[in-house]
Amino acid sequence: MAYQPFDLSGKVILVTGGNRGIGLGMADAMAQAGADLVIWGSNAERNAAAKTRLEAHGNRVFAQQVDVSSEQAVVDGFAEAVTAMGRIDSVFANAGVGGAKNRSFMETPSEDYRRVLSVNLDGVFFTLREAGRHMSQREGGGSLVATASLAAIEGAARNQAYAATKGAVISMIRSCAVELARYGVRANAILPGWIATDMTAAAQENDAFTRKVLPRVPARRWGEPEDFGGIAVYLASDASRYHSGDTLVIDGGYAVF
Ligand SMILES: NC(=O)c1ccc[n+]([C@@H]2O[C@H](COP(=O)([O-])OP(=O)(O)OC[C@H]3O[C@@H](n4cnc5c(N)ncnc54)[C@H](OP(=O)(O)O)[C@@H]3O)[C@@H](O)[C@H]2O)c1
Repeated sequence: MAYQPFDLSGKVILVTGGNRGIGLGMADAMAQAGADLVIWGSNAERNAAAKTRLEAHGNRVFAQQVDVSSEQAVVDGFAEAVTAMGRIDSVFANAGVGGAKNRSFMETPSEDYRRVLSVNLDGVFFTLREAGRHMSQREGGGSLVATASLAAIEGAARNQAYAATKGAVISMIRSCAVELARYGVRANAILPGWIATDMTAAAQENDAFTRKVLPRVPARRWGEPEDFGGIAVYLASDASRYHSGDTLVIDGGYAVF
């Protein structure tokens, strides 16, 4: 086979929130495509379980307990990862938390707003900035990817804080795509639709949601973490070397129905 741009052999990829859900789905596919992985999560047990699963594919896996909302933790964690793995070629800023617990905008406590911003926006900023510093100082550039959400563009009722972080992440990625292109760094955002993970556990068990929202997903099912393997491999690989500044919707057709 002559055309093999999706082969990730020799690449080192960091996935924040890589110990479960969408992040683990992406990490698992990239490990199968040959990459060495660094995964970040705040929970040590989940990190250990994910590391075992990813190592089964035969490549190096470095799991770190890093709270992305802490600037110092991200700076230290990134440096530790580079020391351990030699370099980092792609960074997936994917760690995130859900929004207000189905409360109206008027009843959203400021603490909830701050909590969501600290992980979903501060965390992405700290992570992408360390990645940019690393990739701009070396040969070969790299790929930055952030997990945004359809909530950024759809008008997510009762979820203003979460939606605001995701809209901001798209803007941050576009800015990175323009500024960092001169270093060979590309930057893209993934917008998942409704995906069955721990984050959406309540919606998955909600009858009204099942009756009213799921029928509006043309694919007629919840998305799965594994549905993000292909886009992750593509964005980490040389196949996407001229693809930057984009927002890639992975939602079973929900946004256009
Ligand atoms: N599920 C959906 O329908 C959906 C739709 C659109 C967008 N998204 C986005 O997709 C991304 C992944 O979500 P998911 O559905 O896979 O959720 P999930 O299953 O709840 O996973 C969240 C991940 O983020 C990590 N995380 C959370 N807070 C963290 C922190 N402070 N520091 C480091 N890691 C942290 C978690 O690890 P620990 O538990 O170890 O902290 C976990 O690995 C998020 O950005 C989310 O907003 C999800």
